[in-house]
Amino acid sequence: VPTYKVAMTVNGKPRALTLDPRTTLLDALREHLHLTGTKKGCDHGQCGACTVIVNGERINACLSLAVQHDGDAVTTIEGLGTSERLHPMQAAFVKHDGYQCGYCTPGQICSAVAVLEEIRRGIPSHAQADLMTAPQPTGAEMRERMSGNICRCGAYSNIVEAMADVAG
Ligand code: FES
Repeated sequence: VPTYKVAMTVNGKPRALTLDPRTTLLDALREHLHLTGTKKGCDHGQCGACTVIVNGERINACLSLAVQHDGDAVTTIEGLGTSERLHPMQAAFVKHDGYQCGYCTPGQICSAVAVLEEIRRGIPSHAQADLMTAPQPTGAEMRERMSGNICRCGAYSNIVEAMADVAG
């Protein structure tokens, strides 16, 4: 199998990889860069556990080939905060108990950070017509935008509370 070179900025640092072109972004992050905060749940775009932020927008890293991201800026959960200095969304998840087992949490938090940014920038959701983008997002809007992130423990209401806390 031929290999390809990919250069990305990951969590603010330049990273160069030589990869089998079939490698997903998720596997590049986890297996090649050892950034295991990003989780593999379904590996086919159904659960959201693998959500990362690429050039400011959230994507499912399992559905994207790493070679498509040459030159891109990727942020994973490891790039949002540290255990000494949590990102405000991480702190809000702690405060509001926005998790139980924690497996989906990195993807939930990456998605939640990107969702508030989508709302701030006025990017429309795929929602029903009555879920309008507003400066103060409603719980319904946040739930709809977070619908691609599945939590088997059912921490959904606390996740929305955490997001509302950060949204202010
Ligand atoms: Fe990517 Fe489930 S692991 S959506």
